[in-house]
Amino acid sequence: MRTVTTESITQSFIDYMGDDTDERLRFVLESLVKHLHDFARETELTHDEWRKGLELLFAAGNISSPERNEFVLFSDVLGLSSLVDMIHSSDEVTPSSVLGPFHVLGAPELAVGGDMRGDNEGDAVVVSGIVKSDTGMPVEGAVLEIWQTAENGLYSGQDDQQAEYNLRARMTTGTDGVYLFSTVRPAPYVVPEDGPVGELLRATGREPWRPSHLHFIVTASGYWTLVTEVFPSDDPYLDKDAVFGVREKLIMEYQPRNNTEELPDELAIKTALKGQTFYSVQFDFLLKQIHQPEET
Ligand code: BEZ
Ligand code: FE
Repeated sequence: MRTVTTESITQSFIDYMGDDTDERLRFVLESLVKHLHDFARETELTHDEWRKGLELLFAAGNISSPERNEFVLFSDVLGLSSLVDMIHSSDEVTPSSVLGPFHVLGAPELAVGGDMRGDNEGDAVVVSGIVKSDTGMPVEGAVLEIWQTAENGLYSGQDDQQAEYNLRARMTTGTDGVYLFSTVRPAPYVVPEDGPVGELLRATGREPWRPSHLHFIVTASGYWTLVTEVFPSDDPYLDKDAVFGVREKLIMEYQPRNNTEELPDELAIKTALKGQTFYSVQFDFLLKQIHQPEET
């Protein structure tokens, strides 16, 4: 290709791909490059702007580490992570939402009814619900990984003052599919803003806040894994989440309570809550079954 023009360069790129290129890779790359070239043509991208974009990517690489991935954060604040989630979400089950960078493996197992709040400060919250199949049946043996911020808006791992697995747990449902635990109210927090993502947010007049939430990963044999978050309905940042993770179906009411009588007996802190005001949150997870192809 000796004569390439601003228009023909896109088709030239497509023609350069070899015949044995994987079909899906060819399709995705072709579309990506078409949009990328259209973007440059439409904006008449200058050398300075192009260089600035590359500098942002370079800075993202520099600040990233095994504990922090700035590229994921870019994808989050640009809305790409949430868009991919929504494209593959089904209306019949619980919507998925962003994983975020603060999930860690190895959280301790907590029995159904167990206490996750330990000696953390903050309002006590009793969280419960049923893990169900898309047919409505309870799912036995579903494993929930749960994690959240402490009252200071930090996750363990971000904060030297917190134990490694503070406010993190793993819970397995019994035959009734029920999960139940006590914790403290999670706090709203800002996404890491000391890197290029922070620079982008400031340059575009955006807030770095995320509404408070409880994170869940729910896995069960025969079902698609669900990565999601549950938000309190009174959080002031619900309509300006920096990473676009809020969905109507993931907003739950934190109901204030002061009567422990109606709490289930398996709740380990039932007696300790007597005479106190606490909140209760009820949220069922609906999982999508993996359909096996029919045998012929
Ligand atoms: C989080 O919810 O933990 C999170 C998600 C995206 C970016 C930063 C944090
Ligand atoms: Fe989070």
